Amino acid sequence: MVPDGRSPGRLGDMTEQQQTPHDLPDAAGLVIGILGGTGDQGKGLARRFALAGHRVVIGSRKAERAQQAADELGAGLAVSGAENPVAAGQADVVIVAVPWDGHRATLESLRAELAGKIVVDCVNPLGFEKGKGAYALPVEEGSAAQQAAAVLPDSRVVAAFHHVSAKLLLDPEVDGMDLDVLVLGDDRESTDLVQALAGRIPGMRGVYGGRLHNAHQVEAFTANLISINRRYKSHAGLRVTDV
Ligand SMILES: NC(=O)c1ccc[n+]([C@@H]2O[C@H](COP(=O)([O-])OP(=O)(O)OC[C@H]3O[C@@H](n4cnc5c(N)ncnc54)[C@H](OP(=O)(O)O)[C@@H]3O)[C@@H](O)[C@H]2O)c1
Repeated sequence: MVPDGRSPGRLGDMTEQQQTPHDLPDAAGLVIGILGGTGDQGKGLARRFALAGHRVVIGSRKAERAQQAADELGAGLAVSGAENPVAAGQADVVIVAVPWDGHRATLESLRAELAGKIVVDCVNPLGFEKGKGAYALPVEEGSAAQQAAAVLPDSRVVAAFHHVSAKLLLDPEVDGMDLDVLVLGDDRESTDLVQALAGRIPGMRGVYGGRLHNAHQVEAFTANLISINRRYKSHAGLRVTDV
């Protein structure tokens, strides 16, 4: 059960009424929690979702750090800060934006708070080698998103926002984000909702990208984007054509 009347039943009704893959549910009004929201990626997403009219709760291991991050985003936005368990508990949709090395432990510690919720994983398990750049790390479960699903059997895990540049999200000069967000998951209702959520940010579009067992290459592709960015001094994103 999620607050604001968004019971799983209501989401189910909306899915049944959908005619095409382009008909998405209404994601307005969803409260968004962000684990590790004090980092650039979490804070950038917090900023964009707050600008799009969402209430956002930035999560941290320390309440003061979360509050500071919320304050930094400025007055007038509905952003608050709290410890990760509180952020998870208050949100309808919870984004995981912690580094890969804290991924498993963070989710294991929040199993109860995340039960019944949509958990959106944007974590890229990457290593960096001097002179060669970023590369994808092997993950026992297949991908970070599959690890999340294994650790959180009572949550609905969706993988998304891997290729979004935190720098652009945080840049006040950038009005719109020029990219598609690949959204992966095993539960269509949840992927539809997260696609709709991505579409709340101007210029961004959520595109269904397959089931969670295809998350590895999406996470891994971030290493290629990092190489592109280094070569072209850019903040490259993806566009999917003919969709
Ligand atoms: N940066 C990007 O452009 C980008 C783009 C797409 C996806 N991502 C993914 O988003 C995630 C966050 O990226 P980021 O650049 O924002 O990372 P970050 O700044 O290194 O970390 C984000 C936050 O996670 C918390 N944290 C740090 N170590 C932790 C641990 N061991 N356990 C639990 N929490 C920990 C910290 O918050 P507190 O100390 O306040 O708890 C930190 O502020 C990464 O997994 C990355 O792959 C990043």
